[in-house]
Amino acid sequence: MIVEHTTAELRKRIKRWREMNQRIALVPTMGNLHAGHIALVKQAHKLADRVVVSIFVNPLQFGPKEDFGAYPRTPDADRLQLAVAGTDLLFIPEVEEVYPDGMDAATRVEVPALSSILDGASRPGHFVGVSTVVVKLFNMVQPDLAIFGEKDYQQLLVIRRMTADLCLPIEIVGHPTVRELDGLALSSRNQYLTKVERAQASLLQRVLRQTAYALRDGSRDFNALQKQAVGQLAADGFKPDYVEIRQAETLAAPTADDARFVVLGAAWLGKARLIDNVPLDVRAPEERTVVLSRPETVG
Ligand code: PAJ
Repeated sequence: MIVEHTTAELRKRIKRWREMNQRIALVPTMGNLHAGHIALVKQAHKLADRVVVSIFVNPLQFGPKEDFGAYPRTPDADRLQLAVAGTDLLFIPEVEEVYPDGMDAATRVEVPALSSILDGASRPGHFVGVSTVVVKLFNMVQPDLAIFGEKDYQQLLVIRRMTADLCLPIEIVGHPTVRELDGLALSSRNQYLTKVERAQASLLQRVLRQTAYALRDGSRDFNALQKQAVGQLAADGFKPDYVEIRQAETLAAPTADDARFVVLGAAWLGKARLIDNVPLDVRAPEERTVVLSRPETVG
């Protein structure tokens, strides 16, 4: 596995692959990799000749009171996992490489409406930080496709919209959420949970799923369903930020005639802010397959 730290060296490597007409996939990450990230890398291998993974803990997407400093950094373990997964190139830039003139006056990219609701309302500036760094990574790597997890559902939609609006010739591929055996979505922030909190944490996913079942069963009292879900989380020791039912493609408020919904939730449990979502199509006979982490870690 090649490891590069600068855009100049990265571009030299990629130029050679491009000259050979090879299809290049990018998997952007902030490191501290788990089976969810590795599933994205494996998917990338199926869709492209060369897989580039970036690890960059992007300061621009963290609020001043958020966990930028505490965010877990495990470069050696990450490198090993990526090499085993057959990654062609690992790009690990320093902050100065990505923001050479500092962040304050740097150009930003904003997807306005999608970035100010839900997680964007709870974390002002977060999605501008995400779309800005992702467009920079896109321009550094110039991949044919890029893979993002549905775990961060709103982020995936922000990036799809940005890519379309800026006419970037990059295919955006979404990957289903990879979960622990009890249903908890894999996340680097799960490490902030105590043992007791970890045992409670999968309730978030169960509550969102219950809400999705109610929609599938025909309930369309969105407000009542949301209120019930928030109440259940609060009763079990979570501090819920929101549980919202939205249209799956746009995150607009749902109507009774919609067929594709997504139930999104964010809640604090101790020091961890957990997010999760359950997309569903009420016309589909089968529920979407739930991807568990075990096959990834064993296989
Ligand atoms: P990070 O949280 O490291 O996630 C990197 C990618 O892995 C994202 O596309 C995320 O959705 C995906 N991912 C995380 N947990 C997952 C899970 N349990 N199942 C499936 N996919 C999962 O998201 C970011 O980094 C950053 O915001 C980034 C896009 C890199 C921009 O800085």
